[in-house]
Amino acid sequence: MDVVLSGMRPTGNLHIGHLKGVLENWVNLQEKYRCFYFIADWHAITTEYDNIFSLKDYSFEIIAEWLAAGLNPEKSVLFIQSQIKEHAELHLILSMITPLAWLERVPSYKELKAQLKKDLNTYGFLGYPLLQTADIIIYKAKYVPVGEDQVPHIELAREIVRRFHYIFKREVFVEPQELINDAARVKGLDGRKMSKSYNNAIFLSDPSEVVREKILNAVTDPARVRKNDPGHPEICNVFHYHKLFSSAEEVREIETNCKKGSIGCVECKLRLFEKIEEVLGPVREKRNQLLADKDTLVDIIKEGGKKAREVASSTMEEVRKAVSVIDL
Ligand code: TRP
Ligand code: SF4
Repeated sequence: MDVVLSGMRPTGNLHIGHLKGVLENWVNLQEKYRCFYFIADWHAITTEYDNIFSLKDYSFEIIAEWLAAGLNPEKSVLFIQSQIKEHAELHLILSMITPLAWLERVPSYKELKAQLKKDLNTYGFLGYPLLQTADIIIYKAKYVPVGEDQVPHIELAREIVRRFHYIFKREVFVEPQELINDAARVKGLDGRKMSKSYNNAIFLSDPSEVVREKILNAVTDPARVRKNDPGHPEICNVFHYHKLFSSAEEVREIETNCKKGSIGCVECKLRLFEKIEEVLGPVREKRNQLLADKDTLVDIIKEGGKKAREVASSTMEEVRKAVSVIDL
C-alpha cells in the first residue's frame, strides 16, 4: 500500500482552518493509504528555541485534536518525531551529501529569516528542510499532504533521494510527491488568512461562549449600517463561513435575504454559530475528554511510536548498508 506522511509543528492550537483545510483531508486519506502523521517537535525548536516551554503541551493538545477530528490510531500511525531517533540519524547522513547551496536557495529559508526578528543564523534552521526530507523518506512516503508553501521542501526531498541513489549506488528511497491541501480555504474572522498570530482564528479549543462571541464580533459587509440595507454576501466573512458549514439550501436563502435586506447580521451570525457548533461541539468535547485522560493519550502515542520505529529502523538498516556504516 502506498504511504502518505505529514506532520505539524507543535507551536499552537488547531483552528477551524486546520479542521476544514487539512484534517478532513488527512482523515479521508486514511481509507486508501498507509498513513503516518506526526508532531514535528524538533522542527519547532528551530524557530522556538527561546520559547520551548509550550512544545510538550501543544504536542498533546494537537494529537488530541487530531483524534477528535477523526484520525483513527487503528488506521493511521500517529507519533512524535523526537521519539524516533532514526530521523536524526538519517538527517545526519543526508547532511553529508547535501550541497549548502541547495539549502540556501530554499525560499522559506530566506523569507522566514527576513520575517522573524530573532537570530536564525543557526545550523539547525538551515537544515530544516533536510530534516523534513529525512522525516518523509525514512517511511518511503509517496504522497505528502502539505500547504503550497511547503512545495520547495518536497522538491528538495526528491533531489536528495536522487542524489543518495546516485552517490551510494543503491535504491533505498521513494521520491515523494506533494498533495496540496488548501489551508487557506478558510479565511480568518477579519477576512485575512486564518492564523494564530493575526488573532482572527476560531480554535477547536475555544469554549462555546468564546466561539459565539467571536462570530458576533466578526466583520461583515461594511455597507450594511441598518438592518434592512441591502448586503453583499460575497464580500462578507460570515457568509464565507456559511458556505463551509451550512447546507446549500440555507446558503441560498441567506444570500437572497441578505441582498434584499430582509435578514439582519445578528440573526445571520447566530444561525452560523449554531451550524459551527454542530461540527465543533463534538470535536471540542472529544478533545477535552482525551486531554483529561492523559494515560490513554500517552498509550496511543507510544503505540504509534512503536509502529513508526519499526519502519524507520528497517529503512536505516538499508541506509547503513548503502553507506557502509558498521551495523553490528
Ligand atoms: N514543515 C512542515 C510545516 O511547517 C512540518 C513538517 C515537518 C512536515 N516535517 C514534515 C510536513 C514532513 C510534511 C512532511 O508545516
Ligand atoms: Fe453577512 Fe449575513 Fe450580514 Fe449578509 S446578513 S452581511 S451575509 S452577516
